[in-house]
Order: sequence, then C-alpha cells, then structure tokens
Amino acid sequence: MEKLAKTSVKINDLIARRWSARAFDPNKPVEGWKIVALCEASRWAPSCGAEEPWRFIIWDKFSSEIEYSKAFDVLDEGNKKWARNAPLLIAVIADTRWRSNREATNKWAPFDTGAAAMALYLQAFDLGLYAHPMAGFDATRLRELFQIPEDYEPFAMVAVGYPGNIDNLETSYKERELGERKRRPLGENFFYALWANPLQYQKLIEDNTNV
Ligand SMILES: Cc1cc2nc3c(=O)[nH]c(=O)nc-3n(C[C@H](O)[C@H](O)[C@H](O)COP(=O)(O)O)c2cc1C
Repeated sequence: MEKLAKTSVKINDLIARRWSARAFDPNKPVEGWKIVALCEASRWAPSCGAEEPWRFIIWDKFSSEIEYSKAFDVLDEGNKKWARNAPLLIAVIADTRWRSNREATNKWAPFDTGAAAMALYLQAFDLGLYAHPMAGFDATRLRELFQIPEDYEPFAMVAVGYPGNIDNLETSYKERELGERKRRPLGENFFYALWANPLQYQKLIEDNTNV
C-alpha cells in the first residue's frame, strides 16, 4: 500500500514512500540477506566522533521463536495487537557513554542512534518491507530479559515484515492505516536566518527569497 508524503517540491522517492504501517504478512519470513542489509544500512549512518553508539538486537519469529516471544511480550498491549504479525522485532539501543571514557555521557548518542534507525526504516522500504518504530514497550523488562547493561539505553522496538492484509487489523487500526499521512506546515518547524522566522517555502520555490 502506498501512502506518499505530500510535499511542496519533489523529494527522494524512498523518503516520500516510507510510512509506519501496521498490517504485516504473518506467513512471510524476511530473508537473511535482507536482515543483513538492514544492519548494513544502519552501520553506515554518521555518528559524532565516529562512535557508532547504536546497538540493535534482532529477533526473528521464524528462527528464534522463544526469544522472539520474550521480546514481543515487552510491547504495550496496543502495539501487541498489530505487531504480532511482524516476523521481525528489532530493539534500537544507544550506548550512552564514550568508548574512551565510560564515566562521560555521549550526549549525541540518541541523535546518532536515531539516524541509524532511520537508515534501517528506509532500507526496509527499499527492500519491499515495512518498518514501524515503537516507543510503547517496557524498557526495564527488556533490559532484564536480555541483560542489557545499565549504560546502554533502549529507545525503540521496531516491527519489520512484508505488507499484509489490512482486513486483519482491528477497525481503529484499519482506519489509521487507510488515513492520510499528516505533517505540520513547513513554517512551523523550519526557520530561515532567525529563530522562529518561518520558512516561507512558497516564496523560496517561486523566487528564491524568504521575504
Ligand atoms: C521513536 C518512535 C516511537 C514510536 N512509537 C510508536 C508506538 O509505540 N506505537 C505506534 O503505533 N507507533 C509509534 N510510532 C510511529 C509514529 O506514530 C509515526 O512515525 C508518526 O505517526 C508518523 O507517521 P509515519 O511514520 O507513517 O509518517 C513511533 C515512532 C517513533 C519514531
């Protein structure tokens, strides 16, 4: 299913096509090489000081069912309702300390880990997969179950898999699945030259000015 972003100028096709889908095919495993491709895409993300602070744990329902079930169990009830059909779950975790000094906080770690996660979502779409990030999960339980050390912080779980039948979703999720993708106007979050000076994108497009 296509849910193209509506943009004022043409943007990269993959970025326009990516969205957070919920209808996964429960019977179609993700090929091993595609799992590796997701990791490679994240691996080549930029990072402050080339720290590569991201860590990912991958669970595959088709090859490690017991571990997958444990990971699935930490999801919030709402997320469980649709994520149960996703054959892959991926935890996105940041190393909060510098490699050279474990006492000091790397404040860019979440920023860089987010960039690595975005690379994964985009790579997934390029391979015909859906990737849906979730903050709705119990990070404390995840830590306990998978012995994640204290200085590493789980930020998201990502459900990944092939597109499935939206009729298998509960009505409220089905409506969301069919609804339009929305964003705030450009001028609300994007500024030009001064803080809170809205980007006047129509003027920029038409005559290269912002005044
Ligand atoms: C860090 C993060 C956490 C999210 N948590 C959830 C979640 O727990 N459950 C959910 O259904 N969607 C979750 N989402 C998906 C967002 O709701 C979605 O990205 C947003 O509505 C924009 O839609 P789009 O990704 O289709 O453009 C999360 C997204 C991000 C980036």
